[in-house]
Amino acid sequence: MTLFDKAERICSCLKEKIEHLPEIALVLGSGLGAFAEQIDAECVVPYSELDGFPVSTVAGHAGRFVFGTLAGKNVVAMQGRIHLYEGYSPEEVTLPIRVFQLLGVRTVVLTNAAGAVNTAYRPGDFMAITDHIGLFAPSPLTGANDERLGVRFPSMSEVYDKTLAETLKSVAKTHGIPLREGVYAYAKGPMYETPAEIRMLRMLGADAVGMSTVPEAIVAAHGGMKVLGISCLTNMAAGILKQPLSHAEVMETGKRVEKQFSELLLGLVGAL
Ligand code: HPA
Repeated sequence: MTLFDKAERICSCLKEKIEHLPEIALVLGSGLGAFAEQIDAECVVPYSELDGFPVSTVAGHAGRFVFGTLAGKNVVAMQGRIHLYEGYSPEEVTLPIRVFQLLGVRTVVLTNAAGAVNTAYRPGDFMAITDHIGLFAPSPLTGANDERLGVRFPSMSEVYDKTLAETLKSVAKTHGIPLREGVYAYAKGPMYETPAEIRMLRMLGADAVGMSTVPEAIVAAHGGMKVLGISCLTNMAAGILKQPLSHAEVMETGKRVEKQFSELLLGLVGAL
């Protein structure tokens, strides 16, 4: 079965369950999934109910779609995402984005937990992603191209929509939430990086590092959707502080800034 057929099959299965098609999709990163509770849910669909859909295996990722309304808009949230390090292929990891595309979603908001590579940034800060470094990630567009989904050689000159980032900035300002901006570098994981790798990424111009988002952003751009990327900087990247990195720290920081994250996303969706 082609990727298009797979995505379309899942799309029609979802269309049978929901009444309102979402215009905005929110992908909730590690420790940030609780936000889905803010949605006035019309329908919750566990990934396991969808034939051929990958299931997230990471602690802190519930693994379900929440369809409903948020600040008056029809949205779908992915409570739990799929990562390459779980052993899924780039195509599987980005299948949800293709499903969004076929559902008619126009705006994809990709959130993630990330390590701060920029030493001026702090754990608990939020960062609007201005661009990414994805050269270390396998491309989700490898293989035959289906023109129904996008062009063979898509431009990646502006993956992250500037207007969406500006909207996020003004929402952050209104709520008094400090918002950084910068370049997100993809790292394979699941191990955290070494201090030498972080020094290298800093030299290359990265401000944050994480194990997700880039494949999804590429596919969303390929599919003609507008993308906003928001990193929650949950820790200083490896080698900056003396202490070792841990998933517990990532989850704790996510929990600590849950209220601000909620205000940001709610304000953003309301302003779209
Ligand atoms: N590195 C990679 N991924 C991450 C990090 C990190 O420091 N923190 C949260 N996700």
